[in-house]
Amino acid sequence: MKSASSYNRLRAQVLLLAIVVALYLLYSNYSSTNSNDNSTPPYSLYADLNQKEEEIGQKFLESLELIETQKNPKFVLFRQHEGTDFGNQTQEILLHHHLALQSSRFYIYQPFYWKSRNEQLPLSAFLLGASQERAVPASFVEKLCPKGSDDVAHIKIQSTQEDLWNTALSALKRKEKCIIMDNPIIDTAYLSSPTAESIWPLFQKHLARWFQWSPQILDIVERTQAQLNLRRQFSNLHGEPYIALHLHRKEFLEHCKTAAQQHLGFMNWANLPAVLSTTLPPRLNPGNDSSVMEHCSPSLSRVMDAIDRQVRRKPYLRSVHIIHDGVASTDLRKLENALKNPGRAQRAGWTYGPIKSLTHSAMVPHEPEEVDFLVGADVELARRAEVFIGNGYSSLSSYIVALRMAGDLVVAGIPEAITLL
Ligand SMILES: *[C@@H]1O[C@H](CO)[C@@H](O)[C@H](O)[C@H]1NC(C)=O
Ligand SMILES: *[C@@H]1O[C@H](CO)[C@@H](O)[C@H](O)[C@H]1NC(C)=O
Repeated sequence: MKSASSYNRLRAQVLLLAIVVALYLLYSNYSSTNSNDNSTPPYSLYADLNQKEEEIGQKFLESLELIETQKNPKFVLFRQHEGTDFGNQTQEILLHHHLALQSSRFYIYQPFYWKSRNEQLPLSAFLLGASQERAVPASFVEKLCPKGSDDVAHIKIQSTQEDLWNTALSALKRKEKCIIMDNPIIDTAYLSSPTAESIWPLFQKHLARWFQWSPQILDIVERTQAQLNLRRQFSNLHGEPYIALHLHRKEFLEHCKTAAQQHLGFMNWANLPAVLSTTLPPRLNPGNDSSVMEHCSPSLSRVMDAIDRQVRRKPYLRSVHIIHDGVASTDLRKLENALKNPGRAQRAGWTYGPIKSLTHSAMVPHEPEEVDFLVGADVELARRAEVFIGNGYSSLSSYIVALRMAGDLVVAGIPEAITLL
């Protein structure tokens, strides 16, 4: 009797364990299609890059001593916002690098903060320009700008939005060798204000010249383009020209409700007049809650209207690549059904029929240790697309828009190739 009941108990436990394992596998399988966390970050690569940053910084400083005009180099260390996500952080770094170069100071760059793991990673694993052009890593601070030295000035910038940039620039023109900014200077409110328009022309040039992803990110992008048959804008290599569409997961709704309550407009560079004018009608009215929701959390039919608008303009576009960080598969399926529906394509005036290929972020080919580079790869795939459809309430969309508008030294993007939802 006793052994029979313990046998049953054992059987129940084994069964339970099997169910737990099955659920776990199901879950990890599900989440691995959603940029997961069951991956190993490339720590040995990061260690190598940290060391390389030191070596490059050291060589760079030694080379300065040989150049007469560079005998008294000046440096700046900015205070970054804490705990920011990928898009906000890379953008802040690019703006700081820009400010440093504009004021003829060398940029002291900090490690890249990886929010989900609360880790500091080498910046050169993500951005090259800001970690190479007239830049040294923060590990040099003590040596270059020792605490308490007369040649080190701690500064806080306090200014109206209108004067912010110039106040920061004149502070950076001070005579001290090192300037350490004790407060973050540039925030979303500033970048979303009309004043930001005045700093755009020079920042645009800065991006065109110095913005550069790491080889790790570019490698994934090239691989994705080859495997998913996505052709880069302005290139005549193989593959199909494509529309990149940035969609959000359901959780974005909370952000939208806050934006509606606070009557917020679009974010950052989405407010540049040339970009704002690409908004799919009706025009955004931040004072009207439903208007904010309409733009921030667009319906499927609104997303389709945006695609229609671009396909009518460029009828040869037959591929759509969706950038997302975990959109519900039902939403993807609905969109796919609409995009591939021949009757709908005809009604919408698509000369060459429905979309042939729909790909999205979870299909980007990558190794488990490359997961940290996927957001950057997503941004770059959206930057390279023939057309970009984004969300004006998303800081990541706004960042993509800025990178597209800046282009590179040869070509800059045109606003017509962008639609804001
Ligand atoms: C970027 O920063 C802004 C302002 O702090 C914030 O509202 C936004 O949510 C951030 N973006 C993301 C994706 O976290
Ligand atoms: C508010 O926005 C919605 C959605 O665009 C629109 O239908 C409505 O007419 C607007 N209301 C006012 C008072 O403008």
